[in-house]
Amino acid sequence: MDNRFRTYSFLIAAALFISFSFILVAFAQKKAFQTDTAASCITSSCHAAMGKKKHIHQPAGSGEGCAICHEVLMKGEHGFKLQTSAPELCYQCHENKADKKFKHTPVQQGMCLSCHLPHESDNKRLLIMPAIDAQCFTCHDENTFKGSAPHTPVSEGRCIDCHSPHSTDNPKQLVKPVLDLCLECHNRDMKDTKGVTLPSTKNAHTGKGMILHKPFAEGKCIDCHYPHPVKEYRRLKGSYPEEFYTSYSEGSYSFCFKCHQGIKKAFKEPRTLSGTGFRNGNLNLHYRHVTRAKGRTCKTCHEHHGSRNPGLIRDAFSFGNRTLAIKYEKTETGGSCAPACHTSVKYDRCSPEDNMILTTPREGGDAVMEELKKSCEKEKK
Ligand code: HEC
Ligand code: HEC
Ligand code: HEC
Ligand code: HEC
Ligand code: HEC
Ligand code: HEC
Ligand code: HEC
Ligand code: HEC
Ligand code: HEC
Repeated sequence: MDNRFRTYSFLIAAALFISFSFILVAFAQKKAFQTDTAASCITSSCHAAMGKKKHIHQPAGSGEGCAICHEVLMKGEHGFKLQTSAPELCYQCHENKADKKFKHTPVQQGMCLSCHLPHESDNKRLLIMPAIDAQCFTCHDENTFKGSAPHTPVSEGRCIDCHSPHSTDNPKQLVKPVLDLCLECHNRDMKDTKGVTLPSTKNAHTGKGMILHKPFAEGKCIDCHYPHPVKEYRRLKGSYPEEFYTSYSEGSYSFCFKCHQGIKKAFKEPRTLSGTGFRNGNLNLHYRHVTRAKGRTCKTCHEHHGSRNPGLIRDAFSFGNRTLAIKYEKTETGGSCAPACHTSVKYDRCSPEDNMILTTPREGGDAVMEELKKSCEKEKK
């Protein structure tokens, strides 16, 4: 009997103690936390500000969702310890954003929260900043994206038309290989920012019978063009005159000379037997056309991307509002053209042609037959 009574008293006391402890804990919790279930997170006075932005992250849209990312056991301590940290936290529901070959550094480092807010945002895609480019400029220097020769998709802040913010299979975070990327927009005629018509680059690339400039054929657009705004004409990687006529200086053609180191010589000497193939005997025709006060620029004769004629020679060039045909014909040791600038003329490296046209006085002396013969034997080899 006694034993039984003692057992009952003990059980009652224990039960009372346990209940009391529960009440104490609950009370303590209530004081510290002001809420008792995760279900009321958003509506509670503490987090009343949440859920008011334009875009709510779906799991943070209801009180129940809080516990998906936050440790509920921390309730009593008012802790916001995360179940696990980004990016693993995010990859529970989202596909791996760093699964491609080239990973954007902040993504590789799991810094999802350097661009995204976890709960809600007034900006699309839960971005921290109101515009895509502004988001990029939190880490990349905005000043390097300004220049007097703009590129519309960059100026309009459409960085992600060309770059993946996460990871890609192409270098420089590009969404596609360079050629495909550029031709996706440059597949038709369009106007530049000054209203000048730009011919379709895709047509130049795939046109029938086109002989392409080698780097263009290989799709190396960015060997010649900067993709982002700079000050150079057509965002070329070096200077290149915009006009048809200009007084010659080596610096003004640094763009072409970057790759064609050897051709520089052709614009330095009025007579040559090796500096260029564009010569009549030793009379350097590159020099005669280009190296003068009102020299013709390369584009008077050469196309930049490709042409139907050998040597990238144009079909025609525009002069004022007229288009003048060049009618270039290549021969084994020279060529001929019949532009509107002068009557039909021929040049030949081995046996110089006698063109009956009036010209400015020639510098230097003609090569003697012996020298010509030697240089032509060299050319044949
Ligand atoms: C998708 C995961 C996720 C969900 C769902 C989520 N959170 Fe968070 N929360 C985070 C992350 C990540 C941080 C840490 C932010 C930081 O370090 O900048 C955080 C931080 C917080 C903080 C600390 C202060 C702040 O805003 O940075 C509070 C408070 C918070 N969360 C409340 C909540 C509430 C309440 C809910 C439910 C309505 C909720 N969270 C749902 C991921 C989540
Ligand atoms: C519990 C699952 C879950 C977790 C964890 C989660 N998300 Fe989400 N997230 C979603 C759902 C569901 C959507 C809505 C999907 C949709 O609209 O297609 C979404 C949408 C998004 C969006 C697009 C929002 C929009 O407006 O288009 C971004 C950005 C995003 N989540 C980032 C994150 C980041 C960063 C993390 C980690 C901190 C994370 N998510 C963790 C479920 C989750
Ligand atoms: C450098 C900034 C940046 C970082 C870092 C970043 N994101 Fe994004 N994220 C963006 C941008 C910009 C978009 C919008 C892309 C769009 O609209 O096509 C986006 C879109 C999303 C989307 C919605 C569309 C989609 O692609 O599914 C999800 C989900 C997302 N990010 C998750 C993540 C996760 C997870 C991480 C971390 C591993 C992360 N992001 C890191 C900038 C970033
Ligand atoms: C949180 C900081 C951060 C943000 C925001 C950010 N980046 Fe980056 N980005 C980096 C770092 C760090 C590197 C690697 C170092 C470097 O090359 O400057 C990088 C490199 C790059 C590269 C060069 C990749 C390569 O292979 O050389 C590109 C392209 C790029 N980011 C584009 C963007 C775009 C587009 C945005 C906006 C959607 C953006 N970044 C936003 C930090 C950031
Ligand atoms: C028309 C496509 C295009 C757009 C739009 C574009 N980029 Fe790029 N970006 C490129 C290409 C192509 C490269 C690679 C250049 C190279 O390798 O020479 C590049 C390179 C980069 C790099 C690497 C460093 C460098 O300058 O070479 C960063 C960072 C970058 N871009 C950020 C941005 C940001 C930020 C924006 C938006 C303001 C943006 N890009 C818009 C095409 C683009
Ligand atoms: C060998 C150097 C070189 C390569 C490679 C090159 N370009 Fe060009 N591009 C030029 C030059 C030079 C001009 C300026 C021509 C002028 O106005 O005199 C130009 C002009 C342009 C223009 C203005 C329209 C026009 O044709 O006058 C566009 C658009 C263009 N390039 C796009 C591209 C794209 C896209 C690629 C890659 C498929 C590419 N370029 C490759 C040298 C190059
Ligand atoms: C998202 C569309 C888009 C993509 C992708 C694009 N461009 Fe453009 N590009 C334009 C538009 C629009 C113009 C005409 C307006 C202007 O000049 O900004 C232009 C103009 C140009 C010009 C003439 C610039 C001038 O001075 O007027 C060149 C050169 C050029 N792009 C080269 C490229 C190269 C190289 C690539 C690939 C790296 C490329 N573009 C990718 C839309 C694009
Ligand atoms: C990115 C390097 C690069 C740039 C810049 C460049 N070229 Fe070229 N060019 C080449 C290569 C490579 C070839 C083919 C190899 C060769 O025949 O020498 C070539 C071939 C040529 C040819 C044809 C040669 C022949 O015998 O058929 C001409 C003409 C030419 N380039 C003119 C120019 C002019 C004019 C410029 C400046 C507007 C220029 N190039 C800028 C790389 C370049
Ligand atoms: C008056 C027309 C004309 C002008 C202007 C002109 N070229 Fe040429 N160029 C030619 C002809 C024609 C050839 C072909 C020579 C041959 O192979 O018979 C040629 C050939 C070339 C070649 C191939 C190598 C060689 O010399 O045979 C290069 C490179 C070249 N030109 C670059 C340039 C550059 C750079 C400029 C501007 C600084 C320029 N050209 C200006 C007509 C011209």
